[in-house]
Amino acid sequence: MDNRPIGIFDSGVGGLSVLVEVQKLLPLENFIFVGDQGNMPYGGKTKEQLNSYADKIMAFLVSQNVKAVIVACNTATVYAIDFLREKYKMPIIGTVPVIKTIANITKTKKTAVFSTPATTKSPYLSALIEKFAPNVTVYKIGGTGLEELIETGDLENKQIDKILHESLEPLLQKNVDIIALGCTHYPFLTDKIQKIVGKNVQVVDSGGAVARRTKAILTNNQILGSKRTDDFYYTTGNKNRFAKAVKSLLKKSPRNISSIII
Ligand code: DGL
Repeated sequence: MDNRPIGIFDSGVGGLSVLVEVQKLLPLENFIFVGDQGNMPYGGKTKEQLNSYADKIMAFLVSQNVKAVIVACNTATVYAIDFLREKYKMPIIGTVPVIKTIANITKTKKTAVFSTPATTKSPYLSALIEKFAPNVTVYKIGGTGLEELIETGDLENKQIDKILHESLEPLLQKNVDIIALGCTHYPFLTDKIQKIVGKNVQVVDSGGAVARRTKAILTNNQILGSKRTDDFYYTTGNKNRFAKAVKSLLKKSPRNISSIII
């Protein structure tokens, strides 16, 4: 048993969609969440920038004595996880679109990944598709501007509906029967996405898969936790803005919210 916390980070509040799934599966673990809001959105950043942001967050989490880290961000995973695994010798769990799952489930052999433009363009995603979905069409749709809107915590902003319609409508004629959400901000919009694509299209995210992988890795390394104490939430941006969004998205107000400079 190991009761040190698990670190988890994203460019902002999107990673909370992963955190809730991990917490459901591992209720005896404690977490240190970092939202890198000072540098978000990650979706338009270069590989060098993403490596540097991820490096600083990892160094902070290591200083907090974490036993493992979840990169709760597809963009950071596809560009920076190799670098992180090389530099930090601890379990690091990434978040990527569930390509294998959609390839197994689809009947029409037409699927889509809806992610940030950076993830859409990444060689890492192309390699995943080549490996796990060689005989399936995977449309790569990049959503622009959604993360910043989700960061406010106000999911009723009409701009969100507008972007979703513009991004997803081109898919409607293509006989796609499953869409993987490839950005951790998007699960907060699942209901809205489902409404646009209709009930014959399944919308899936990566949260459950990351949670199962985390459990397997902690189990294999014999570092599962056995005692809940508390979770800590940090932002590299504005604390009040972060606290408001966390409260709105998690529907609760965590006790320990701070801003950090890293
Ligand atoms: N939530 C992140 C992801 O999964 C990135 C969002 C962003 O900052 O662009 O890709």
